[in-house]
Amino acid sequence: MIRLNENYLKLQSSYLFSEISKRVALFQKENPGKEIIRLGIGDVTRALPKACIEAFHKATDEMADDATFRGYGPEQGYDFLREAIAREDFQARGAEINADEVFVSDGAKCDTGNIQELFAGDIRIAIPDPVYPVYIDTNVMAGRTGNYNDGRYEGVVYLDCTRENHFVPELPKETVDLIYLCFPNNPTGATITKTELEKWVDYAKKNKSLIIYDAAYEEFIRDEELPRSIFEIKDAREVAIESRSYSKTAGFTGTRCAYTVIPKECMVYDASCGKHPLHGFWNRRHTTKFNGVSYPVQRAAEATYSEEGKKQVKELSNYYLENAKLIRQAVTGLCLACTGGENSPYIWVDSLRDSWEFFSMLLTEAGVVTTPGAGFGRCGQGFIRISAFNSRANVEKALARIKEALK
Ligand code: MLT
Repeated sequence: MIRLNENYLKLQSSYLFSEISKRVALFQKENPGKEIIRLGIGDVTRALPKACIEAFHKATDEMADDATFRGYGPEQGYDFLREAIAREDFQARGAEINADEVFVSDGAKCDTGNIQELFAGDIRIAIPDPVYPVYIDTNVMAGRTGNYNDGRYEGVVYLDCTRENHFVPELPKETVDLIYLCFPNNPTGATITKTELEKWVDYAKKNKSLIIYDAAYEEFIRDEELPRSIFEIKDAREVAIESRSYSKTAGFTGTRCAYTVIPKECMVYDASCGKHPLHGFWNRRHTTKFNGVSYPVQRAAEATYSEEGKKQVKELSNYYLENAKLIRQAVTGLCLACTGGENSPYIWVDSLRDSWEFFSMLLTEAGVVTTPGAGFGRCGQGFIRISAFNSRANVEKALARIKEALK
């Protein structure tokens, strides 16, 4: 008899963004004439940068000729991309990362979801609330939590992110082994300073914990004082890994390319406190379960680091940040408090009522899709997240409709 991993029974019935899609599809079916504007899931709408497209086409042509065709590539990614990442994303900012510490993949979602399988089943995990649901759901699947009660899974150390702490969690009072941090934050758009991040690195060193740092939105940072990488913090190489993605940076949500950095000094411990470099285990997992990102996609990702590519990527993120500014202005004008949207494409809005109720009202009255904060955790109740990823015309239209609906 094929038996179920019963941890799946503990999960909420569907993944947050699938649930939203279902509700939107139902509404659309019942209201076929109504035009819907999507500011829910953070999905980009603008074309890939020209430099990426040119590199993509060129690489595709290489695949069309026996002389330049490539079969399986290195599972960890081609050197040309790993070297560009280490040089441009880290060394250029004073962070000491080498190309062989970079693992190219098809998404930060997959990496942050998959990495937990390297750790023991009974480790204690600390998860911010609200949070990108992948971190918690994958630990539920792995059996690291108890049941779901009153909006939370038993056995998890939740790190409350509230108005009072400016949506940056405080260190846990207890000892935890695995910590998830994401800055600029999804969903709140909050950012973390170097001083605050140093406290997390110190905590992890003291407790032999590991920080999974999700920096998928770093391209949106405009405040030069803010860290773009956890590896800008001294000693972070010993206790942190970092995931990044080209999805939001360069419009790759449908193209798929990301990476995770595992420094060689980063250790994991066996039951007898013997230490082992995490790098080798992730390499083992990656080479066993993954066959690499396609060659043309890696060439397209590499092109984001050319002079033209850099300019075009900046132009894209500036465009979405301008949308974010308009959203912030409109929301504030409606006397709703918000955070995010300045160094982040997400605006976290205090809806002054139940999140799902506000979500439904905006969908039915304004035809605008947002994301209910409660879907990201108990502390998200009473908030909605608005994404700046859409065309300027759609954002302006959506804001006018929201204003009308809230009159
Ligand atoms: C989001 O809307 O939170 C993201 O687009 C989801 C993702 O990146 O997987």
